[in-house]
Amino acid sequence: MQDIINEFQKEGTINLDIFKWVRNDKELMTILDEEYRMYDYHTRLIDSKSNRGWCRTMYHSLFQQLIRGDIYYYTCYMVLRRAVYLISYPYYTKFAKPGDKTRFRHVDINLGQAALRQGNEEMIQGSVSWDDEDPTNCTPILTRFHHHLAEYQQWRVAKGMDKKGAIEAWQDNVDWPQELRSRWPEVRWVNTICKPGMVRISDPRLPHGSNGPATKIRRTMLPWFVRVNDDMETMEFEPMGTYDQLAKAHRNLTAGPKSPSGHPNMYGGISIPFAGATPPVFTSKISQAIHCQILWNSPGVLLELLNLFGPNGTKDGYWDFVTARRKEVAKSVKERWIVCKKFEMAAFGDNSFWRKKGPQSSQRDTKTSLVEELMKELNTSDFAG
Ligand SMILES: [Fe+2]
Repeated sequence: MQDIINEFQKEGTINLDIFKWVRNDKELMTILDEEYRMYDYHTRLIDSKSNRGWCRTMYHSLFQQLIRGDIYYYTCYMVLRRAVYLISYPYYTKFAKPGDKTRFRHVDINLGQAALRQGNEEMIQGSVSWDDEDPTNCTPILTRFHHHLAEYQQWRVAKGMDKKGAIEAWQDNVDWPQELRSRWPEVRWVNTICKPGMVRISDPRLPHGSNGPATKIRRTMLPWFVRVNDDMETMEFEPMGTYDQLAKAHRNLTAGPKSPSGHPNMYGGISIPFAGATPPVFTSKISQAIHCQILWNSPGVLLELLNLFGPNGTKDGYWDFVTARRKEVAKSVKERWIVCKKFEMAAFGDNSFWRKKGPQSSQRDTKTSLVEELMKELNTSDFAG
């Protein structure tokens, strides 16, 4: 873990192959493909405008919950930001397809506040990738930029460019001219290229973005692990909302009140859960706490933390625990995916993705009501009991 910390602190970003165990499970990878296609099918174009590669209906898919609850993934964030009480801020996914206008460059946080350490500069961020990325289809990052942030901000102010420290859209010719490139030659744009199941974890002070337009399918999920304060009410960055609001979003499987950066939800988020969305079963108290199913400071969670990370915790014990929980959650995702598909068909009737696109489409009776459908399924299904 020390290697990871060193690399992260030096470069400001790191790629880790955390979900190799998912990549090696063909059944899980099939569910991933199916889930993405189903949510994408239910994503409307608003005012006929492109979603720029975002799947804005997909907030609580089984796969997103699987990655949020992964204990090793959580451990990396916990160590890198030296914070224990982290919850996942519900967020939509990326599903870019060839031709999507995915290119952008920006900084999520206010650099002026970050330079003074008065903002949300500790809120490290990242994504899980599910496709083979390449230089055209990946996340470019201005690595090592964070080491010079204070001087950079002084430069901006001296140039009269910046009164408040917020940069909406980063442009190299304005925000990173040759003058600065020559001053700090070790700071450079790097394409962070992942393969399926790899995660990128980045310092939020680094300018970053996406290359584009997309030339192939690229899917990513953003876990947004954010810190709840010791009072279990307020969050590390007040504009993002309160713990209760986020717990409600997890319970109801809806969007959070804002974005993790405190901005309004683009396109309104989702105010009702997706039909069929369901959490996998987590037996780990840590995984439950990440999803606001249980308070971080409750005894069960603290005991689990102590067992894993306390003085009597061992590396073997840690990995035995992580592996066992992964097996459980994989089994649960597979079981609940069957349920999700059935509910999607029941709820959407003739407009169901699975009736129209799924392998079962020709076998379905499209005339029964939702309740009749569910009763029939519950009486005969392989998920009853
Ligand atoms: Fe961003």
